[in-house]
Amino acid sequence: MVNKPVSYADYLKLDVLLNAQVPESAAAGREAHDEMLFIIVHQVYELWFKQILFEIDRIEAIFAGDWVDDRDVAAAANGLARIVEVLRLGVRQIDLLETMTPLDFLDFRDLLYPASGFQSAQFRAVEVRLGLRREDRYAFEDQPFEKRLTEREQTRILDQERARSVFDLVETWLSRVPFVETAGWRFREAYRSAVADAVRGDIAYAERSAALSDSQRAAQVKALEQELDRFDALFSGTPADLAEAAPGWRMGRGAVLAALFINLYRDEPALQVPFRFLSLLMDVDETLTTWRFRHALMVERMIGRKLGTGGSSGHSYLHKTVERHRIFSDLFALATFLMPSRARPPLPDEVRRAMSLAYAPAGSGASESA
Ligand code: HEM
Repeated sequence: MVNKPVSYADYLKLDVLLNAQVPESAAAGREAHDEMLFIIVHQVYELWFKQILFEIDRIEAIFAGDWVDDRDVAAAANGLARIVEVLRLGVRQIDLLETMTPLDFLDFRDLLYPASGFQSAQFRAVEVRLGLRREDRYAFEDQPFEKRLTEREQTRILDQERARSVFDLVETWLSRVPFVETAGWRFREAYRSAVADAVRGDIAYAERSAALSDSQRAAQVKALEQELDRFDALFSGTPADLAEAAPGWRMGRGAVLAALFINLYRDEPALQVPFRFLSLLMDVDETLTTWRFRHALMVERMIGRKLGTGGSSGHSYLHKTVERHRIFSDLFALATFLMPSRARPPLPDEVRRAMSLAYAPAGSGASESA
């Protein structure tokens, strides 16, 4: 069958797209030049949110099954890389919007009430589906965040909250990572004793060091002992110990140990893609946080201390969300538990072989030396 010829304008639905910019200021009979930029920038963001959600669909599908194929993890990592680039574009768009001065904005701001970013259902979906939990949100009013959305959007976002987020799916995947425990080797024990040896060596060195005063020595030894306590909390403490060692901790111990394992042995062929995937999750978190911060600063610059059109305290509310609405901060906190590679316990041969890419026909013996 031959496809019907497609034209550029038809394919891109330009008649709809290019007629979708309808400035309120023109309708009010006092045309404000900068409103066109304001509308287009917001529309472009919504299109990019759509793309991000589209990538999240695929990532969720990959991790939703009982078995996650390594090749699919590479595709999921590419999806995350794309999300990161989209978010970076979003951060750059703030520079573009800032070519509008606060005075230019005042020419039409009064016509926008009570419309607000609070009503962006797609932005809320990005947050929820990545894994931002209701209880972790900064609440500035009594009503829940979804009440700003239409009824249909509210039903949808509540469904999305009930479903497993990217955070949940990644946590489950991590807790199933092989190699962390094999018949004869347990990563948890091997790393724990390697770390204890390394830290005790550092304590002995500090106690001997002539370069330190007595008070400096005491402070250093105390800091090192605290580091050991943090490790103990990770390896065998209660969830409360773990929360104290790394405040705000959310991921279960099994997933944390697997993520640590992936970070420590990231050069092993089988761990390179998982390592990239975890790094990209941090990039997503970092870029979204950067966007929140830049958006808050832009808002401060545009409206100073005025309230937002959606009724919040404006820049003050937005600044509070910057740190509070982080999603993958556990992966960042992991560095608390990293030790230099010299303290890293060597992997047993059978584990290294299992993770090697050097396959050979059965019986050739070649794989034995991989
Ligand atoms: C002159 C430019 C802008 C100003 C003055 C501004 C102002 C604000 C204010 C004050 C809020 C807090 C809610 C409220 O009380 O209304 C807010 C929230 C929000 N804005 Fe903007 N905004 C601007 C541009 C943008 C752009 C370009 C986007 C892109 C989509 C955007 C997306 C959002 C989102 C998603 C929220 C909700 C954030 C959250 O609750 O964490 N804003 N904005």
